[in-house]
Amino acid sequence: MKTRWYKDAVFYQIYPRSFKDSNGDGIGDIRGIIEKIDYIKGLGVNAVWLSPVYKSPNDDNGYDISDYRDINPEFGTLDDWKEMVAIMHENGIKIVMDLVVNHSSDEHPWFQESRKSKDNPYRDYYIWRKGVGKKPPNNWSSRFAGSAWKYDELTDEWYLHLFSEKQPDLNWANPAVRREVIDICNYWFELGVDGFRCDVITYISKAEGLPKGKFNPVLRGDEHFVAEPKIHNYLNEINKESWSKYDSMIVGEAAGLKLEDACLLIAEDRNEMDSVIQFETALVDLKMNVFPTKLNLRKFKKIQSAWQNLPEGCWNTLFYENHDQPRSISRYGNADGPYRKELAKMLAVSYMMLRGTPYIYQGQEIGMSNIALKPDEYADIMTKRIFDTVKKYFPPLYPLAVKIMKKVARDNARTPMQWNGLAHAGFSDVSPWFKINPNFGDVNVVIQETNPNSILMFYKKIVEFRKGNEIIINGEYKEYFPNNRSLYVFERSLKQKRYIVICNFKEHSVNLNAIDLHAMNAQLVLSNYPNSTQSFTNGMTLRPYEAVIYYIES
Ligand code: GLC
Ligand code: CA
Repeated sequence: MKTRWYKDAVFYQIYPRSFKDSNGDGIGDIRGIIEKIDYIKGLGVNAVWLSPVYKSPNDDNGYDISDYRDINPEFGTLDDWKEMVAIMHENGIKIVMDLVVNHSSDEHPWFQESRKSKDNPYRDYYIWRKGVGKKPPNNWSSRFAGSAWKYDELTDEWYLHLFSEKQPDLNWANPAVRREVIDICNYWFELGVDGFRCDVITYISKAEGLPKGKFNPVLRGDEHFVAEPKIHNYLNEINKESWSKYDSMIVGEAAGLKLEDACLLIAEDRNEMDSVIQFETALVDLKMNVFPTKLNLRKFKKIQSAWQNLPEGCWNTLFYENHDQPRSISRYGNADGPYRKELAKMLAVSYMMLRGTPYIYQGQEIGMSNIALKPDEYADIMTKRIFDTVKKYFPPLYPLAVKIMKKVARDNARTPMQWNGLAHAGFSDVSPWFKINPNFGDVNVVIQETNPNSILMFYKKIVEFRKGNEIIINGEYKEYFPNNRSLYVFERSLKQKRYIVICNFKEHSVNLNAIDLHAMNAQLVLSNYPNSTQSFTNGMTLRPYEAVIYYIES
């Protein structure tokens, strides 16, 4: 049944609230997406991952679902959704929906029932426990700061929420819950969806007895719910009853997952998922997973290379940005300097040439950057909770928290898409739900569409270059100069053909003694400067953020 079409896919991620508003209420919506399908197609991508559009009270912008089978009215109707899918399919674009089933909204009827009494038939849909005296059942922490437990007077018990209080964790140990998930998947497959991105899927199984987590000042309990062994049984079951029956792609958001455990979830013969979105790369520049530091390129390359070398039968996912990460040009380089464009293009080369399915997050293709917000301007629950918690328990650290959030806050990626330089960046006719990055006059789609040297045009070029290219899709990966602190150099090869990719991650020129590369008849095929060195011999100089791809046939 499975064609594994995703191996030659380039994904575009849409965060609907911030993509395009069609009806002048300041909120992006499905008809806005429909308006922009030509644009999406024009990028050359052939698949879309759509962040949640289900009914939701929006405590976490749609990642708290109150009806898994319907569309949130602010985004449109189920008919709008069907129309969108039909047009995407007509244009050869697959659509993958978000499946958020580690938790639901507390406003979901299941939870409303579950709360009512200890013997309610839905009680076991969630994880309820007695407290320890006046304290929560264990010391696990919410990913959004504070305890992962909320006391409910009605039955004098606590429920588990690894995210916000309005996101109670579903109890996957209950077969009825798993049956619900299967039915939800099949419902959307029958409506035409091509797959799912499974939200925090690594957290679904909690260790028997919910043991106390080992000490950690920020995140406690992980060792008892990240990729806990029963997850494999659960995924097998869903795979058998749903995913394997369709020509689907299932990609799991794999928070906390280590490389050595990845293949257990994605090896083709295990019948679980097709791929995972790993976070080891995204954590390289965060000390203790929290404090942003300057990118250590050697560490970064080491992790990328390790994931590139996944065994046969395990497929990789490639990304720098999504709705939870800061903008890559602000994170990995100097987005405000004179080489902003070169930087954005170099980053594109540095991951688009790797093995795996690449994802482009909306706005990345025009080089959108982080936004400077005042503390009270953040909209994201995560940042708000962190600020509140720090203010309450560690007030002297508040200024530090503000500084950190500037760099890492998820809101950096959630500002409205910059379509043009006119009012509200062409995103909406009215003032949008969230602040627009003031750089929209210079950084927008319309300007870049008419400039052949723009970031957008470069993205189109590299997507085109990649699609259907056997060397990039299936070729082997080999890294050169792993100890070089400035350059990321790797080779992709298939039989006698190979590409050598050289990316300068520094904002200054860097020399490379290229003798190890054995560059007989290397031909330049793509670069982010108009006049890059045509061929390399013994040595070469890479200009600030220069990226070059050479082709060699022997
Ligand atoms: C995932 C989503 C994130 C959300 C969280 C809880 O990490 O990407 O946006 O807050 O799960 O659903
Ligand atoms: Ca709207």
